[in-house]
Amino acid sequence: MTDPDIKKGLAGVHADTTAISKVNPETNSLLYRGYPVQELAATQPFEAVAYLLWHGELPTADQLAELQAVERANRSLPDDIRAFIDAMPTSAHPMDEARTVVSLLGSFETAGIANVLDAAGTPAENLDRSIRLFAILPAIVAYGQRRRRGQEIVEPREDLGYAANFLWMTFGEEPDEAVVDAFNRSMILYAEHSFNASTFTARVIASTLSDLYSSVVGAIGALKGPLHGGANEAVMHIFDEIGSADAVVAWLDDALAAKRKIMGFGHRVYKRGDSRVPTMKAALDTLVAHYDRPDVAELYETLESEFVSRKGIYPNLDYPSGPAYSLMGFDTLTFTPLFIAARITGWTAHIMEQQASNALIRPLAAYSGSNERHIEGYVPDAAEV
Ligand code: SDX
Repeated sequence: MTDPDIKKGLAGVHADTTAISKVNPETNSLLYRGYPVQELAATQPFEAVAYLLWHGELPTADQLAELQAVERANRSLPDDIRAFIDAMPTSAHPMDEARTVVSLLGSFETAGIANVLDAAGTPAENLDRSIRLFAILPAIVAYGQRRRRGQEIVEPREDLGYAANFLWMTFGEEPDEAVVDAFNRSMILYAEHSFNASTFTARVIASTLSDLYSSVVGAIGALKGPLHGGANEAVMHIFDEIGSADAVVAWLDDALAAKRKIMGFGHRVYKRGDSRVPTMKAALDTLVAHYDRPDVAELYETLESEFVSRKGIYPNLDYPSGPAYSLMGFDTLTFTPLFIAARITGWTAHIMEQQASNALIRPLAAYSGSNERHIEGYVPDAAEV
């Protein structure tokens, strides 16, 4: 048999179609249901983009109001879920904590569904589950950070929009409009990105007709990795390691000599820069001015120009997001859980799309192991021959 045409990492392989988003490296653009993500980030509340990803159209005023009413009514952590969270060590990685809590929510929400043939749920059930995960994830992430800081929980406020309430629950104070806008933009930019590793993981699990929560738990596991979502946390570790702009050249010399991957740079699809970076960089610039932190901008720009000039590899969305979330006051370990809270909209849209036109995802592998061989002295009985 001739060697099959293997595409390691499925690089360049179109595994299916999707109507949810279009990532276009040629034009360096990203469309959510046809809308350029830059236009959505500049004009929409994140709740409206969630609606767009789930339904294919931007909501009317009434449809948005209805979604916001359901989202606001489902923001609080139920006491039984909070008791489980309080039983977890505060030293657990926040991605592990979020993964566990989503799994717990799934166990509670699907309790009583004994027949596995009913696990996949109906489109209406899965839309409801998607909205409720979208609504409760901010409380999970915010409480996680407050627990690690030894602070009490802050209950959600129904008079605040999604972004403002997320900041309220995390920091316990009225957020500035400039910070709310930057945070809202970051959630829209992180919401969806076609068949990235975590979304494809969710689709593989959904393709077996397993339940939505199992798909999301798998996606969170994939997102944690530093080659994927974990990179925004890793970017901040790098900034802390370098310290200031004047240490960049020496640090980069050592890092490249040690063949380290520089987190926040490079992308499997975008090879001439990530289409989302200019919008997130503008949000970072607003935060640098708001908090009067020119040192952050100097380190960011020095590292970017040094690395791009040496390797010709461009920043991805995680590069500006890391310092932006740090300036907003989030702990570094909270950064990738913020990515979960945004990407839950894209993941669940893909889960529902997969189930609407399903085929079990099961690729082939070209065998590279030992030739057939047998156990010494084994004599198969007649039934086996
Ligand atoms: C996200 O897919 C998505 O859409 C993901 C995402 C989304 O919204 O869902 O956009 C979010 O995950 C963004 C990516 C975040 N990850 C990082 O920032 C981690 C650092 N980046 C690299 O590990 C890398 O760029 C990948 C994994 C993101 C993509 O790598 P590829 O396409 O598999 O390419 P590769 O690793 O084979 O790199 C090609 C060459 C290699 O050199 P050689 O070994 O051939 O000599 O470029 C080098 C790599 O070493 N390279 C880097 C580098 N990225 C690529 N070298 C140093 N630092 C880097 N960041």
